[in-house]
Amino acid sequence: MSNESSLSVITTLCKRRGFIFHSSEIYGGMPGFFDYGPLGCEMKRNIKEDWWKTTVRNREDVEGLDATIIMHPDIWKASGHLDTFSDPMTMCKACKKLMRADQIWDIFADSDAGQSLQKVLDESNGEAGKIVAWCKGKAKGQTPNLPAVLNADVLTAAYEKLNADAASYADLKSLYTLFFNAKNSEQKISPCPHCGGELTEPRPFNLMFKTVVGPIDDEKNTAYLRPETAQAIFAQFLNVLATSRQSVPFGIAQIGKSFRNEVTPRNYTFRSREFEQMELEFFIRPDEAVELIYGKVTTLADNPDLTTPEDAWGWEVWHRYWVTQRKGWVASCGLPVDSFVESVHEGDDLAHYARACVDLEYRFPFGVQELEGIAARSDFDLSQHQKHSGKSMEVFDEPLKLACKKMDDAAKSAFMDKVVADWTACGKDEAVARAFVARLFEGRYIPHVIEPSAGVDRMMLALLCNAYDEQKLVDSKGKEDTRLVMHFQPRIAPIKVAVFPLVKNKPEIYNKAREVFEHLRRRYAAFWDQSGAIGRRYRRQDEIGTPWCVTVDFDTMEDGTMTVRDRDSMEQKRMTLDELKVMMDEALLV
Ligand code: GAP
Repeated sequence: MSNESSLSVITTLCKRRGFIFHSSEIYGGMPGFFDYGPLGCEMKRNIKEDWWKTTVRNREDVEGLDATIIMHPDIWKASGHLDTFSDPMTMCKACKKLMRADQIWDIFADSDAGQSLQKVLDESNGEAGKIVAWCKGKAKGQTPNLPAVLNADVLTAAYEKLNADAASYADLKSLYTLFFNAKNSEQKISPCPHCGGELTEPRPFNLMFKTVVGPIDDEKNTAYLRPETAQAIFAQFLNVLATSRQSVPFGIAQIGKSFRNEVTPRNYTFRSREFEQMELEFFIRPDEAVELIYGKVTTLADNPDLTTPEDAWGWEVWHRYWVTQRKGWVASCGLPVDSFVESVHEGDDLAHYARACVDLEYRFPFGVQELEGIAARSDFDLSQHQKHSGKSMEVFDEPLKLACKKMDDAAKSAFMDKVVADWTACGKDEAVARAFVARLFEGRYIPHVIEPSAGVDRMMLALLCNAYDEQKLVDSKGKEDTRLVMHFQPRIAPIKVAVFPLVKNKPEIYNKAREVFEHLRRRYAAFWDQSGAIGRRYRRQDEIGTPWCVTVDFDTMEDGTMTVRDRDSMEQKRMTLDELKVMMDEALLV
């Protein structure tokens, strides 16, 4: 199955079984907006609930927050979103299509022409003639101005070069990269991925949705739908600190909607305009404060045990700890560890204020793409809010104050000199370094932060892609059949258990099955199905990933046991209701 078709089987299943619909579908839909149907909203809740339990309830050092979507516009000035949260946008002068200038390649790969060239490549078997035929035939009719079509000779030469290299595989991206790099194609190409037309100079396009607060539509009343949930956490940092009895290191977590006016929403729900985030801001001491209190800062070079946080950890270890925690959670939701990779931001990819950022990337059908990011953001965010709001974002750290009280003047002066030397060596201002250390000696600093930031919709898409399975089965009479099954982790599955009466026309069996169903549905998301053969009922549940099906039959009347069928192994066991609940509780525990 090609990547494109494997995404399309997921979208078809999602529509057919009520996981995901296009928003406003009866009016033609809106690109980048999706609704979650009966099963989709259950599954999405399970993902959020699982994240919340793991990140907030099961920890003593994280508090929750549920802030508004619309906030004071100055927040977005302070955070930098008003000035810099933009994508480079370009327009084709010929076909007038708008697109992200940094996604030209991906847009081509997704386009009809890109897909048809990929198909030719898949079937070409080393025959360059097929590429020429494509340029002169189908593609010429579809997109006559496309660079690849206008330059059949250059494209064919690139194809032959790619094929001659035994180590490479003639995929679309390698072919197009070679094509664009070919010297003689440079003057001939016009780069619109749709039609080959000339593109305008890229211009920054701010991704925040604007709205108006109150009845008067003027500049003063302009507000924005939040493009991330994180900023509310920084804005409420002091309130949460004052009311929660936490002290640094501790975190604040939030789940909620975010909005980005993406220029080209793509790949189903992967890049949407309205989506949900699950974000944690975990506040830590600056390394200099750790050093003053504990006399040392644990770094990764010390090979620390990352299972339980320790007081002397520096930012680098905290960052690695959260990367490890997040990977553990992603895997616990059912994504195999070899299906996602760490991608480390380096050079220009790393924001100027960030010390490190690691993305967890999942192998989606359309390529390896970001699932979530874990960034070490220094004290940038709280410092910005301090500067713009005029409110001090410093915390008072009692152990720090006590540690500094014990230092004599010589020790303080040596520490000051060391920090000033370190900071100035990195190009920072000496006066700022001195002021920072002076505040440390008083027990005060602005906390640094580690930010694990995940998308609910992306996680759900990854779990849907991973769960999808078409199994070829042969029955006892040798008849072949295909079983479509979604192997969701039971905690994530939208329905946990389905209850069937073996027959619906025997009142005692029917009533007993109803009784079991009514009992189970109070604890778990349960489904009642009385129609059709049992085999067909199993298949309907397999398609939506229900881990257990329970059939009440004649034996239930005798000994109270029911047939419990496991979705993945298809094994059937007899169990009492109590045994079933113990087994389910064990499997569903976070
Ligand atoms: N506060 C940091 C932040 O928002 P980000 O990398 O822009 O960082 C974090 O977003 C996560 O939010 C991403 O890893 C992704 O899972 C999700 N996300 C971002 N933009 C999205 C979009 N347009 N559609 C769906 N999910 C998105």
